[in-house]
Amino acid sequence: MKKICIIHGPNLNFTGIREQGVYGKKNLDDINKNILAKAEEMGMDADIFQSNYEGGIIDKLQQCYFDGVEGIIINPGAFTHYSYALRDAIASVKIPTIEVHLSNIHQRDEFRHKSVTAASCIGQMCGFGENGYILALMAFKMMAEDAKKS
Ligand code: DQA
Repeated sequence: MKKICIIHGPNLNFTGIREQGVYGKKNLDDINKNILAKAEEMGMDADIFQSNYEGGIIDKLQQCYFDGVEGIIINPGAFTHYSYALRDAIASVKIPTIEVHLSNIHQRDEFRHKSVTAASCIGQMCGFGENGYILALMAFKMMAEDAKKS
């Protein structure tokens, strides 16, 4: 699995500015640099996208289908908790998708405990801060290695 797309949803461009106690002090550009460096080390070709708009994220997911992307890592931000449109888009493109959250959504407000998008994903990583994205890359790498063995 080589071609990976990382999608950040609404307000994630404000990481490092908003609620630092929850999301950390590092800004999204620096987080992205680290993701790209780790992806390169793992021999992956990664593309990163951020949008504050539900439709923009859906367009990107559909573009992933046409571009032959093999794995998607998505942090849908607050859309996680109510966007059936995003859930349908993830299911439609039939690309293995891992959901990531910087914070542990289960320790927070009640409305954050439910993810409507996770059901369309192969798994979810939450509570590990920016390392969640790296863990998701590692999961894809391990899956690809397992697929080669079988
Ligand atoms: C988040 C968790 C969401 O509940 C929240 O709305 C976000 C960020 C996270 O990364 O922890 O915007 O997805």
